[in-house]
Amino acid sequence: MGKRIGIGLLGLGTVGAGVAKILNSPEGRNPLLNNLELVEVAVRDLDRLRPIDLPRSLLTTSPEKVIENPKVQVVVEVLGGIEPARTLILKAIASGKSVVTANKAVIARHGQEIATAASAAGVYVLIEAAVGGGIPIIEPLKQSLGGNKIRKVSGIINGTTNYILSRMAKEGIAYKEVLKVAQDLGYAEADPAADVEGLDAADKIAILSGLAFGGSIDRSEIPTKGITNLEKRDVDYAKELGYVVKLLATAEHLNSKTEGNNFLPLALQVQPTLIPLEHPLAGVNGVNNAILIEGDPIGEVMFYGPGAGSGPTASAVVADILNIAGIQQVESHTGELDPLLAASSWRKCSLVKPDAIIQRNYIRFNAINKPGVIGLIGTHFGNRDVSIQSIVQFDTSDSVAEIVVITHQVSQGQMKDALNAITKSPEIKGVSAHYGCL
Ligand code: HSE
Repeated sequence: MGKRIGIGLLGLGTVGAGVAKILNSPEGRNPLLNNLELVEVAVRDLDRLRPIDLPRSLLTTSPEKVIENPKVQVVVEVLGGIEPARTLILKAIASGKSVVTANKAVIARHGQEIATAASAAGVYVLIEAAVGGGIPIIEPLKQSLGGNKIRKVSGIINGTTNYILSRMAKEGIAYKEVLKVAQDLGYAEADPAADVEGLDAADKIAILSGLAFGGSIDRSEIPTKGITNLEKRDVDYAKELGYVVKLLATAEHLNSKTEGNNFLPLALQVQPTLIPLEHPLAGVNGVNNAILIEGDPIGEVMFYGPGAGSGPTASAVVADILNIAGIQQVESHTGELDPLLAASSWRKCSLVKPDAIIQRNYIRFNAINKPGVIGLIGTHFGNRDVSIQSIVQFDTSDSVAEIVVITHQVSQGQMKDALNAITKSPEIKGVSAHYGCL
């Protein structure tokens, strides 16, 4: 029997209950779990009914008490939200305790501050559950893919929106109805706006980018478009053209003249994106997430699995606890951290302006149905060097036409200029949709 390691849990909601269930049933899992002991759990309300029945003596309403408990060596933060979670994580670190957290909102915004505090205190802060639910992606990026130069990370990294989009596409169910089911299944954030507005995916791509490219970026500058304005007709038109629409988050290293050894220009964004049906991300449905990494020399590698929910997220939290427990079994504390497990930032990264982002585009114009309109759109795009891959007219009535254009790769600045010119023509009533396209 190795050393006993005391675990303090902050939060006993969907994820916390999942973690407690695993800790309380070690049989058949990694034997190191036998050395872990759930010592104390902070909850908001002692009398609330929960999916797990824990002895009352383990519960407290004071998260500080859990952090200060001398029997607790690892603090697991699964409260969600920014405060008090950030302050509690920093308190745990200051008390010399390693932290495991599923909190993407805190890590995306305060990751640098937390990593600096953790390295000064000689403790770990592990975040496997913050991105991709049960999919191992954080440790693979930190360790298994360390020999690669990463070029691009693309991910379907919000389970709630993927669940909604998949059911809407397959069954034609109304958006609000599907959202309610996703919430009931424990996929959605407390405030579902974080999911459907793309904010949760933006938090996660900020974290993945930091690990893939070795430096943090300003989370608040990520161009983000959610699914709330996505119309069923765009899902249908996409299908007719051989695509499926997904909420895609991307982080890409752009080759740029300004790049030096110490400055990596990155393009990050979150938006509904048309994905060709034969692309590996196109078949990712329901609550599943997938992250596609493109690097040199590995080429492409995809991580796929359940992206939200109690069990999958708890699986990732427990993996982090085991990593810390494993190290504590072999190390007498020297204060030196394992550099592959500790957070590390080794160069400066910076976001390019949104106009410099290069992508293929899906545009839907609302136009008057008369000869020459498609020619006019083609001329304006051609004048601004925007190459069209396909242009299709979907008639909605005799007088109104919907014209869908898919472009080749072009900068968003060029795209903006071309769309400004096109929408000045009286024949064009407006741009009704503008999304990305792989
Ligand atoms: N609300 C998140 C999602 C939970 O739907 O993916 C996992 O982070």
